[in-house]
Amino acid sequence: MRLSETLPLLRVARPPAPGGAGRLARCRSIEDVARVARRRLPIGARNYLDGGGEGEYTLRRNRAAFDELELLPEMPREAQDVDTSTTVLGRRVPLPFALAPVGAPRMFHHDGELAVARAARRAGIPYGISTLATTSVEDVAAETNSPLWFQLYVWGDRAEAKEAVLRAKQAGFDALLFSVDTSLRSKREREQRAGLDLPQAHLSVRTFLDGALHPEWAWHFLNSETISFPNIGPPDHRSREKLDHMFDGTVSLEDLEWIRELWEGPLLLKGVIRPEEALRAADAGLDGVIVSNHGGRQLDHVPATIDMLAQIVDAAGDRLEVMVDSGFRRGSDIAVALALGAKAVLLGRAHLYGLAAAGEAGVRYCIELLAEELRMTMGLCGARNVSELSPELIRRREPASAPDPDVVHPGRG
Ligand SMILES: Cc1cc2nc3c(=O)[nH]c(=O)nc-3n(C[C@H](O)[C@H](O)[C@H](O)COP(=O)(O)O)c2cc1C
Repeated sequence: MRLSETLPLLRVARPPAPGGAGRLARCRSIEDVARVARRRLPIGARNYLDGGGEGEYTLRRNRAAFDELELLPEMPREAQDVDTSTTVLGRRVPLPFALAPVGAPRMFHHDGELAVARAARRAGIPYGISTLATTSVEDVAAETNSPLWFQLYVWGDRAEAKEAVLRAKQAGFDALLFSVDTSLRSKREREQRAGLDLPQAHLSVRTFLDGALHPEWAWHFLNSETISFPNIGPPDHRSREKLDHMFDGTVSLEDLEWIRELWEGPLLLKGVIRPEEALRAADAGLDGVIVSNHGGRQLDHVPATIDMLAQIVDAAGDRLEVMVDSGFRRGSDIAVALALGAKAVLLGRAHLYGLAAAGEAGVRYCIELLAEELRMTMGLCGARNVSELSPELIRRREPASAPDPDVVHPGRG
């Protein structure tokens, strides 16, 4: 072939555009975005984002469990116009996933929740705001018309927790998620090693140097409003004290009763890991559960959520909507959960990596990436819509059988 014939076949890649779009241009997966995010964050924020509880067994298990599950599509497998829309808590949404509530997102990008809310609005997907959000529920609500969920931590002072719920209600939030896996702070060794004790970072020569090595993050951190937690009262001297007593071990399922009285809208239990808990939630008049181990950040050694999902879906029957999170990084992971009966998947780190990498553009990039992967997986499975993803599609990988000693393999003497 002559050079003149080859040239038209070559496409010269354009240099990446400056700013967020350029940083993301070469990212083909959430893990690629995570790499960009990690480069941009100082060690405290990075460890807060990536770390897990204690020995991080559950953190690793959340990903490893997907390795054990296989998709077994039937012929014919043609699905040209895949419809990923579904109904979550009574609202039609274009994608079967939501952005999970996280504390202190402004640690990852100065626009924090506002950037995430704008990305959620563009995609039309639900967004959960943490009790420990760094933006007020009123400001977030002003930014989006997508479904908004308020995640509640009940701390020692029930009157203040009640006020937080009423503010979310007043701001027009659609659903309340009551977290039950955080009655105590877990031991997050990566955070401890980095000298992070939210909302404070201990300033040392090391953190100072680290800030200097991440000048863009440090510049925004120093020039933006100080990080505070406006949904647990005014940022006064008591905020720190409140945070110290936030997780006081007194949360119980009895709290459900007064929460149910406070909130008439959809109410879900977040952090369910056992089928009996789903039954208790249904008996208490709740609308759904989120099967979650907090992304492997709380109690270590609990199972991967994808391994508990089918049993919990079974127990819930048609009394509850079951959602799931923890470890989801691929559209195919989402497809597996839907096939096992989840109504939707919540994404924690998978959207935070985008936030840290490029603010709103980064979150949008991650949503689109996962939507594309999900559409492709559904198409290849022959599922035209989410209800065509069924448990028969999923098989647990069989353990590799031990080699038969009588079989002589060629080339092995
Ligand atoms: C940095 C970070 C902070 C979090 N903060 C909260 C929180 O304030 N409230 C809550 O209910 N869950 C919180 N979570 C847990 C998420 O809501 C979600 O359950 C978890 O991230 C799912 O796992 P994944 O990160 O592997 O997707 C947090 C998760 C992360 C990564």
